[in-house]
Amino acid sequence: MNTDKIRDDIKGLSDGKIFLNNAGSSLMPTAVVDSMIDYLHQEEQLGGYEVANRNSELLEQFYDEAAKLINCKSSNIAFATSATEAFAKALSSIIFKEGDVVITTVDDYISNQITFISLQKKLNVKIVRVKNLSDNELDLEDLENLIKEHNPKLVAVTHIPTNSGLIQNVEGVGKICKQYDVLYLVDACQSVGQMAVDVEKIGCDFLTATGRKFMRGPRGTGFLYVSDRVLEQNYAPLLLDMRGANWTEYNDYELFKTAKRFEHWEISYASLLGFTEALKYANDIGLSNIEDYNRKLSEKLRKNIQNIGFKIWDQGNNLSSIITFSGSDGDLENIQKVLKENNIFFSVAYKNSALIDFTNKNIHGIVRLSPHYFNTLEEIEKVSEILKNSL
Ligand SMILES: Cc1ncc(COP(=O)(O)O)c(C=O)c1O
Repeated sequence: MNTDKIRDDIKGLSDGKIFLNNAGSSLMPTAVVDSMIDYLHQEEQLGGYEVANRNSELLEQFYDEAAKLINCKSSNIAFATSATEAFAKALSSIIFKEGDVVITTVDDYISNQITFISLQKKLNVKIVRVKNLSDNELDLEDLENLIKEHNPKLVAVTHIPTNSGLIQNVEGVGKICKQYDVLYLVDACQSVGQMAVDVEKIGCDFLTATGRKFMRGPRGTGFLYVSDRVLEQNYAPLLLDMRGANWTEYNDYELFKTAKRFEHWEISYASLLGFTEALKYANDIGLSNIEDYNRKLSEKLRKNIQNIGFKIWDQGNNLSSIITFSGSDGDLENIQKVLKENNIFFSVAYKNSALIDFTNKNIHGIVRLSPHYFNTLEEIEKVSEILKNSL
């Protein structure tokens, strides 16, 4: 991996900032931005329909690149405008009835929890959350017992939570879902692009991801993976449009075969193209290379921060490129001030965004640093030094 070349491809690094907010919204490679600007200039000249016709083969590459990234076929991929849109479309394809059960975790993403609560309020769907073991790993025995007890309609797990370094054992969950033939949805919003993600190994029916974070694509992009099993059973979003089906009779339609049936017709093709460039960029470097490098960066940073005397809040046996911490007294304010003064990009999360996790940890919030493969070990040392001097 040529870090110098990778950094040269990022205009946003020219002012010397240290960018550690890849779990929020990363810096796009120049090729991503250029491809979008070029496409918009074509639309400016020709109108969107003509440009889409002229670039139809290029636009199709999105599906190939996304499929390559997570090890599936192009026909299993639908473009989405965000991970949340993908998640909502997947959920809408499941016909929930009163009393149906969704099994999820205490660490699942805020918006997913709110969606489930909405299903609970509107349809009386029951939410059941799997216990964590004392080392914060998912209790797979509890999951199996809950599946036997509730016969759930869906199991939904966030691979890497937004506000904790934890990497959930999604493959372990997948094996159990397969054994009991339960639908399985994985929110891989923080993991795709950060590490190797393989839907075959996970064994999920749906997987959702967003473009702007570790994949380094533009805002307003994402994708949904839909398994062959689910496609063959004619799952489709509740509110389809002509992208999803062919109108064959006055009162009937025929579903299209591929996961594109989960899209709506109108999208920003400039964004789709930029996202494709970002996917190509990641695929060219290789996700195993990215994962190995990210592990080195994040392990170093987490260890340094802990040694300096801050409190690390990441729990679990397998940790990601998301590092969450506070002062030993819970302070977030001084850390933010120091990071801002030194042009270090980060984010902060408060209790409402991880209500169960932060209640269990008895904290009101965390500062989050999320390095990625364009960061260097020198940057990690520099940030550590700055934090040390702030105490
Ligand atoms: C774990 C997780 N899931 C889902 C989302 C939602 O992604 P989007 O804003 O693209 O819908 C996020 C965003 O931070 C996330 O961290």
